[in-house]
Amino acid sequence: MLQSRPPSAPRWTVVFLLLVVLSCLFVPVVSVKHENFKKCDQSGFCKRNRQFADDAASSSWTSPYALDPASITFKNGQLSGNVLKTLKDGQEKVKLPLAITFLESGVARVTLDEEKRRKGDIVLRGDSKARKERYNEAGNWALVGGLEASSGAALSEKAEQGYTKVIYGDGGKHQAIIRHAPFEIDFQRDGETHVKFNQRGLLSIEHWRQKVEVEKPKEEKKEGEEEKEEEKKEDEPAGEDESTWWDETFGGNTDSKPRGPEAVALDITFPGYEHVFGIPEHATQLSLKTTRGGDGNYDEPYRLYNADVFEYEMDSPMTLYGAIPLMQAHRKGSTVGVFWLNAAETWIDVVKSKSIANPLSLGVLGHTDTQTHWISESGLLDVFVFLGPTPQDLTRQYGELTGFTAMPQSFAIAYHQCRWNYVTDEDVKDVDRRFDKFNIPYDVIWLDIEYTQEKKYFTWDPLTFINPTKMHKHLDKRDRKLVAIIDPHIKNTDNYPVIDELKKKDLAVKNKDSNQYEGWCWPGSSMWIDCFNPAAITWWKGLFKYDSFKGTAPNTFIWNDMNEPSVFNGPETTMPKDNIHFGDWEHRDVHNINGLTFHNATYQAMLERKKGEIRRPFVLTRAFYSGSQRVGAMWTGDNLAEWSHLQASIPMVLNQGISGFPFSGADVGGFFGNPSKELLTRWYQAGIYYPFFRGHAHIDTRRREPYIAGSPYTEIITQALRLRYQLLPAWYTAFHEAATTGAPIIRPNFYIHPEDERGFAVDDQLYIGSTGLLAKPVTQEGQDSVSIYIADTEPYYDYFDYTTYQGAGHHTVPAPLDKIPLLMQGGHIIPRRDRPRRSSGLMKFDPFTLVVVLDKAGNAKGSLYLDDGETFDYQLGASIHRRFSFDGARSVLTSTSLGGRATAKTDAFLKTMAKVRVEKIVVVGAPAAWKAKSQVVVMEEGAKESQRRKPVGFEYFEGEGRGAAWAVVRDPKVGIGKGWKIDFA
Ligand code: NOJ
Repeated sequence: MLQSRPPSAPRWTVVFLLLVVLSCLFVPVVSVKHENFKKCDQSGFCKRNRQFADDAASSSWTSPYALDPASITFKNGQLSGNVLKTLKDGQEKVKLPLAITFLESGVARVTLDEEKRRKGDIVLRGDSKARKERYNEAGNWALVGGLEASSGAALSEKAEQGYTKVIYGDGGKHQAIIRHAPFEIDFQRDGETHVKFNQRGLLSIEHWRQKVEVEKPKEEKKEGEEEKEEEKKEDEPAGEDESTWWDETFGGNTDSKPRGPEAVALDITFPGYEHVFGIPEHATQLSLKTTRGGDGNYDEPYRLYNADVFEYEMDSPMTLYGAIPLMQAHRKGSTVGVFWLNAAETWIDVVKSKSIANPLSLGVLGHTDTQTHWISESGLLDVFVFLGPTPQDLTRQYGELTGFTAMPQSFAIAYHQCRWNYVTDEDVKDVDRRFDKFNIPYDVIWLDIEYTQEKKYFTWDPLTFINPTKMHKHLDKRDRKLVAIIDPHIKNTDNYPVIDELKKKDLAVKNKDSNQYEGWCWPGSSMWIDCFNPAAITWWKGLFKYDSFKGTAPNTFIWNDMNEPSVFNGPETTMPKDNIHFGDWEHRDVHNINGLTFHNATYQAMLERKKGEIRRPFVLTRAFYSGSQRVGAMWTGDNLAEWSHLQASIPMVLNQGISGFPFSGADVGGFFGNPSKELLTRWYQAGIYYPFFRGHAHIDTRRREPYIAGSPYTEIITQALRLRYQLLPAWYTAFHEAATTGAPIIRPNFYIHPEDERGFAVDDQLYIGSTGLLAKPVTQEGQDSVSIYIADTEPYYDYFDYTTYQGAGHHTVPAPLDKIPLLMQGGHIIPRRDRPRRSSGLMKFDPFTLVVVLDKAGNAKGSLYLDDGETFDYQLGASIHRRFSFDGARSVLTSTSLGGRATAKTDAFLKTMAKVRVEKIVVVGAPAAWKAKSQVVVMEEGAKESQRRKPVGFEYFEGEGRGAAWAVVRDPKVGIGKGWKIDFA
């Protein structure tokens, strides 16, 4: 019998329906799972070293490390010796071999090892097969040059009591003052100390010691529980926390630590420096906050431990997907820095100590020192010290060591359209057609994990991607590309040749028992290729050949994701630290480099897809380390479709730039959640300034390709995309600069104006390369203007209407939804291509426009770099590199070559570009004296006699209101690869 409905039922139905409606209106609040990731006091070595720092702050503290003067030798630019660590009993000393290498570049490298471990004179616990030495191969992955020892570096002749002094660097400008006891180093430039090691006495090298096993049966230790008193070794200070020396449990995973405690730590002080930048990746501001509490500060150190921290939180020192342990300190007149070459889990405390001005000592101003404390779990202590003195010196010297960013193919700096997932090959073609229908430019469409058959990489789902070859051909019609994802976890299943080979060839990462490690990721049970192994790289290369990864084509490129590595059931969503890699190194030692090794293997594979077909690879990575810039681009991982994430992306990408890995960007639109149309539009307007520019979205989100938003959003987004495409020549030139000098592609205020103290912390606006283009993206809802900070007294002109802003300070620039706030600093010449096209490939032979933006004195200069955008021929001279200068005194604009000596390849390239010309020159801030002018005279090298002095039409436009006057030279028909002069006099 049916039960009758209770009388109150209708009311419940209404409530229920209301709830349903409400739940549809609100996007669920998502946020990072804090409990999955350690805080400093849950990471044994971090807790110990922080405690050590607190204890050392007592005035009675003296560091127990001393350099034995009798051991010091100096040869070929290197000082060697032994640092002795005195243990608590005062008798026993631990020998730590020291090497300080003074490099030709003016950089110094300090390395401290531990003799016992170096000699393998230790006993591993359990049955561990791990290596006994401290990890000493980080340099093999991170460093590619700049290591020549200085021939000029010398010990100071003056022997001083308790010190050893080395004079080095350009013309002997640098000095290292090495104090013997306690061991400290001051690095000086021109007699002034800029970097101090161990000033606070926090140097700590946890030496090897034998565990004293306790006889009586022990109760199983719970997480965080203290070790029993009897287990302490005699030589350690009473009260030292040993609870995590021998094993450590977090989130149900126990790390067996066969080598016991082995952390390395050091305090590094930058005296007189208030701002420090760098150590990406963190969702934080550019000028790093302090980490020892206090109003608005952090109370956790910055952490570097590559991890899959999806839905990450803003304004946090928490670790993210990548790690670059490079920090630079900046003040007026000086930039210095340190590079902490260590691949293990690392924490960095930052403290600023202010000294108050003494009113009695006239002329002595108060100043701020930034004190940092670096703590790594294992490995060598290996630190490079840069003494600048400019931000440009620092990025160049760091780039000389770790490599400059790879010159990308030209398509790679255009717009990428991604989502998780385009579901069929027809879907891909459909999206492609719609972009065309709406006249929206784009270059690359991406496939996420669902294109594979059951997450088996190197396969296509036969039901959904029926004809990948046809799909590639379709895209190629407009010179478009496809990027397919390939992750490092290999599905552990039957009938999958890739896993069979991985197992058979024994190329997977091992667990602590030396068996192939098995964990969980997208495909379920998986194994991880160990790209530290050269044999694994060789095998990986084979998988990308066209006849192996069938269905791919020359326009397929690759996305490497989850390479921290992400392991769903692993500690902190990654691999157990006692896993073993090639060479018997523990995962603990190499963790932060792991992503780079996988990225590198894919890069190498993409170079060798087909004999004779050598193209610049494009490989995107999520995890990275110092050196990753040599093999591709990165993005900032799983952000949210929220305004705060749009805002944070600007300092994050700026920080990547000054930290040597500038080819970077954030998911446009936000990965998780559905952005409002306004947010999406503003994100595109900001995304056009990311060096890596890709829209991406989670599988559960609504479709949001630019044509979906509707009017006026679609049109506004299209305008933004066109602006990116119009400026591609300027972007490509900026990439070339990054690839040859290490300079960032987008640059923060301090990098361009290193003397402007007010602008050091400015991180919400950016300059594009050396173009003088200054952008301030709108990152707040409902905003219709922005306040742009101008650091100098040059005129800045609105990019679109030439409104002039002049005077150091903040200027309000209108920014209604359809307006992108973008200014041009006087003094630059900006190359553009103005014809709207569907992809960058179709712009290859388009003519150029030069925008000459005059400075106060009426001068301007700029450059253009151009090559085939595809091959490596540019390395053999196949390029065009021009310098444009406008000399206000003579009223002459010239194009001269910046390229080196021409080769046969140069000539061949010039030939292919022979018909490509400058079709328009716009002079912004044109002098009033040109008003009556109707023509200019053009002179081109190699022109026929009759064309020697060619008159060309010229128009002058008076500016209205605050708008600057401008002039246009119409079609001077000068070759882009040629030398020429245009006389405006
Ligand atoms: C995580 C990545 O961060 C995200 O971009 C991607 O869509 C998913 N993995 C699925 O592959």
